[in-house]
Amino acid sequence: CGIVGYVGKRDVAPLLLEGLQRLEYRGYDSAGIAIHSSGRGGGLKTVKNAGRVRDLEAKVPARFAGSCGIAHTRWATHGAPNDTNAHPHLDGEGRIAVVHNGIIDNSSDLRAKLAADGVELASETDTEVLAHLIARSQAETLEEKVREALRYIEGTYGIAVLHADFPDRIVVARNGSPVVLGIGEKEMFVASDVAALISHTRQVITLDDGEMATLKADDYRTYTTDGSRTAASPTTVEWEAESYDMGGHDTYMHKEIAEQPDAVDRVLRGRIDERFATVRLGGLNLDARAARAVRRVKILGCGSAYHAGLIGAQLIEELARIPADAEPASEFRYRNAVVDPDTLYIATSQSGETYDTLAAVQELKRKGAMVLGVVNVVGSAIARETDGGVYVHAGPEVCVVSTKCFTNTAVAFALLALHLGRIRDLSVADGRRIIEGLKKLPEQISEILREEDRIAKLAAEVADAKSMMFVGRVRGFPVAKEASLKLKEVSYIHAEAYPASELKHGPLALIEPAVPTVAIIPTDELLEKNRATLEEIKARSGRIVAVAHEEQEKADDTIVVPRNEPELDPVLMGIPLQLLAYHTALALGRDIDKPRNLAKSVTVE
Ligand code: G6P
Repeated sequence: CGIVGYVGKRDVAPLLLEGLQRLEYRGYDSAGIAIHSSGRGGGLKTVKNAGRVRDLEAKVPARFAGSCGIAHTRWATHGAPNDTNAHPHLDGEGRIAVVHNGIIDNSSDLRAKLAADGVELASETDTEVLAHLIARSQAETLEEKVREALRYIEGTYGIAVLHADFPDRIVVARNGSPVVLGIGEKEMFVASDVAALISHTRQVITLDDGEMATLKADDYRTYTTDGSRTAASPTTVEWEAESYDMGGHDTYMHKEIAEQPDAVDRVLRGRIDERFATVRLGGLNLDARAARAVRRVKILGCGSAYHAGLIGAQLIEELARIPADAEPASEFRYRNAVVDPDTLYIATSQSGETYDTLAAVQELKRKGAMVLGVVNVVGSAIARETDGGVYVHAGPEVCVVSTKCFTNTAVAFALLALHLGRIRDLSVADGRRIIEGLKKLPEQISEILREEDRIAKLAAEVADAKSMMFVGRVRGFPVAKEASLKLKEVSYIHAEAYPASELKHGPLALIEPAVPTVAIIPTDELLEKNRATLEEIKARSGRIVAVAHEEQEKADDTIVVPRNEPELDPVLMGIPLQLLAYHTALALGRDIDKPRNLAKSVTVE
């Protein structure tokens, strides 16, 4: 979900709608806006509806004037996506408006108590209770009212509140869901993501958990939920406002795929140390002695981040010879895992705020584990909670499905693996070999992107598939998993990823002409084994698209990608499959940047 708010001199509705557009990738099943009206009679005015921000825009009346307001775009958790459940939520008299990200765990109890006191609840949401609790507070100031209401709340929240009696301010609070203040010239912004602020100001303050703030046009104050002042001073956001624009592409996904040579260049920049055949990772916070003492590495993440972690684990095992594996953070945190003092834990996340990953980090920290982050968003919750780490520097990623950030994360793991390797047993010669390979990546990615037209034709041919199979061995397997996820997310074609070796133990039963297979076949020590898999598939008359370093005779089509060092092949082999997923979705007329039922950042459990 996304929150945006503004207080200043300008007409607020267009500003909020623009902010919502920029946040829509965080949730898009309903949207709403509330303002302090400067029109006759004043008071709060609200418009909200199920559907996209553009539907909301059409509903906002021309005379919706004011210069202080809040808005929200929702991804439903409690209650169906309909007009009533859309935010902002109001108290019974419509004098208080609340927008909220996160989940109030004890909302059923609170709803029951409010109902028993005769309060009529309009929606099925957890958020609405907050508006009523604030309304019931007898405290004098809005800050105290909100503080009092929050005492009843168990769960996570990022909230912004308006009150008809306090038309000069927005009160915000954070616990587990991001809240960023944007500091302008006689105007202040608030949002759950810098994306909504950056075209207006690059001076931001990220609230901590347990922190609140009051925003007025020419002033802001931050304090804890107990009321004591906190000293927060603005920092400057590095990302450019233009990187949030589509830049001539029809979709963000296409733009972000195309940006990958530059993005990879960024993650490498300034980090290569030719002299010692290693890399410098300034933020790692892990000295050589500690790095040598590591006995295992465990990488945690969700979705594409988890898949990049699978590549990372292999790289660490190959280059640093440390046993390593990756696991979905969501599984890890629920299975009472053994937390071992000699294991280095690494949380990886584009947004740095995925709740399952963050919760895994918090659990690990509580148990005294060493936790690093491989994160894209600088200053995000996971980046802040970890002991150190490697920033991914992919720049903002707006499309819900991850492409450039996945690639950059895999490269960031290659850097980390090289670094750990060179502290342990990786030779200078091998260090040099990997560095040369890394330096080649941006140009080789460009080379793959030049094959787009051909890949688009292939996509048109597989678009009517009933299901698709993605297979690979060892280094190829995480690539297969990510490619399968990409296709599912964006085209809605069912797909499965399997280790090629496991095909004959079951999934071969699915192979038929309507179920094409994509096989990842690098020219490495497993080439012959992979060719044997193609034979198995061909014998069942399945269509095969190979991603390989050379034409594959048994495949119906081969997408040939340039060779790098074998350890880095996975980085390159995923790229054509992003294009395959993209063009399949395009051929099927899908909503590419905002696939159904998904959201960019899942900040709830
Ligand atoms: C959501 C997104 C995925 C993403 C995952 C993890 O499910 O739809 O594209 O990979 O979250 O997000 P993170 O920000 O932690 O990388």
